[in-house]
Amino acid sequence: MPNQTTTRISPEDIQRQNDLCRQIAQLQHSLDTPPLALVQTYGCQQNEADSERLRGYLAQMGFGFTQDPEQARIVVINTCAIRDHAERKVLGNVGALVHTKRSHPDQIICLCGCMAQEPEVAEKIKKSFRHVDLVFGPQALWRFPEFVHTLLTRRGRIFEVADEPGSIAEGIPMVRQDPVKAWVSVMYGCNNFCSYCIVPYVRGRERSRQPEDILAEVRELVQNGCRDVTLLGQNVNSYGKDLESPLDFSDLLEEINKIPGDFLIRFMTSHPKDATQKLFETMARCEKIAPVLHLPFQAGNDRILKAMNRHYDRAQYLDEIRRLRALLPDIVLTSDVIVGFPGETTPEFEETLTLLEEVRFDALFTFLYSPRPGTPAAKLDDPMPREEKLQNFNRLVELQNQISAQKHAAYLGSVQRCLVDGLCEDGEWTLTARTPGNRLVRLNGPEDLIGQFVPVKITGANTWSLFGEL
Ligand code: 5AD
Ligand code: SF4
Repeated sequence: MPNQTTTRISPEDIQRQNDLCRQIAQLQHSLDTPPLALVQTYGCQQNEADSERLRGYLAQMGFGFTQDPEQARIVVINTCAIRDHAERKVLGNVGALVHTKRSHPDQIICLCGCMAQEPEVAEKIKKSFRHVDLVFGPQALWRFPEFVHTLLTRRGRIFEVADEPGSIAEGIPMVRQDPVKAWVSVMYGCNNFCSYCIVPYVRGRERSRQPEDILAEVRELVQNGCRDVTLLGQNVNSYGKDLESPLDFSDLLEEINKIPGDFLIRFMTSHPKDATQKLFETMARCEKIAPVLHLPFQAGNDRILKAMNRHYDRAQYLDEIRRLRALLPDIVLTSDVIVGFPGETTPEFEETLTLLEEVRFDALFTFLYSPRPGTPAAKLDDPMPREEKLQNFNRLVELQNQISAQKHAAYLGSVQRCLVDGLCEDGEWTLTARTPGNRLVRLNGPEDLIGQFVPVKITGANTWSLFGEL
């Protein structure tokens, strides 16, 4: 039985937003040159995907795009709230826009994304960043044209940051950044409330898109030459729990795998408490699912995992990895880990190191704990000095670097079927490519290989990348 009813924005409501885009385009028709928009994105892939929707709306409104705030009629800053450091950087950049606004008083400055949904941030913008015209949270993104229309036709500021559980909006136009690789959101929000994490507070409750909408989107992408589709959700493994149809994430993968065409399916993020044997079996069976899994473990010690409200222990996590590797021995494994959770002692942290040695991840995303206002962990005692946390953090990074280098060295001499995905910015090499497990490969070759799968012989390796030849 569905455990909740997801609010779906009606097609008429989306149509109204799209109509407003066309009205805005007409308003701007009389300008000498087409107006430009700058969209800046911070944070995770979900934010990248949201920015593709913002650009889609902006393109329909008649905007071109620029990277230069001086040239921009409208600046949209899509923010991330996961750590304090990122927030400060954003606020610094938003603050600096006061100067561009002074020289272009009709510039519209918007702040959206997860930070916008934090009450303290919205309050701070209201009082101290008076050059910001529009603030809206992730749940209100579908109404962006309406906000811009109001700002263009009337004076004043808009704050649309009501705390709401969230909805599903289909039919928002998108301008995708990459023709070869695409993000496809399958669900939004999170119900897990890990004690350190702000995401459930700013992105609302879990809600799944209808499978037909997802399948249609992937089908169209593949027809247009996309070769690598990453399904996105804060916790993809709980996909479908709110749908009428009895379809779970593994079933969805199975359906996407049936779509004709030569392409890879990836997905993130999986929560270890919801990653099922059925998922592993589906991964092993479906030839288009890339042999890679991002499975954040966060900490190696059971007391800390409990305090983090993760709902699994070390033994369960290791057992999952064992079962996965029994089915897919060469699977590429990546993970997230937090160092310095409140009260974590150095011996407890060392269990994170031993977990790394046991699993030997191919790559790791390492985070120093950052207290987030409003989360339970932010209220806990945190006696460890920052220096000790940093020392532990460095030990972790050093160990992982060794493991990553060894993992990469094992590719030497092998031939990998790689997807060439872009031009390489490193002068020595012309192209970048990805192995099926998403390891970065630099190589030389003609530009027209971009978007193709090619066999690459791996001739070099370091901690961060592989090097190869066609
Ligand atoms: N401090 C540090 N890292 C965090 N993450 C989430 N919240 C915090 C926080 N408050 C990390 C987790 C998560 C990743 C996306 O960000 O490891 O998996
Ligand atoms: Fe945050 Fe946990 Fe949800 Fe991931 S699963 S978004 S870490 S609350």
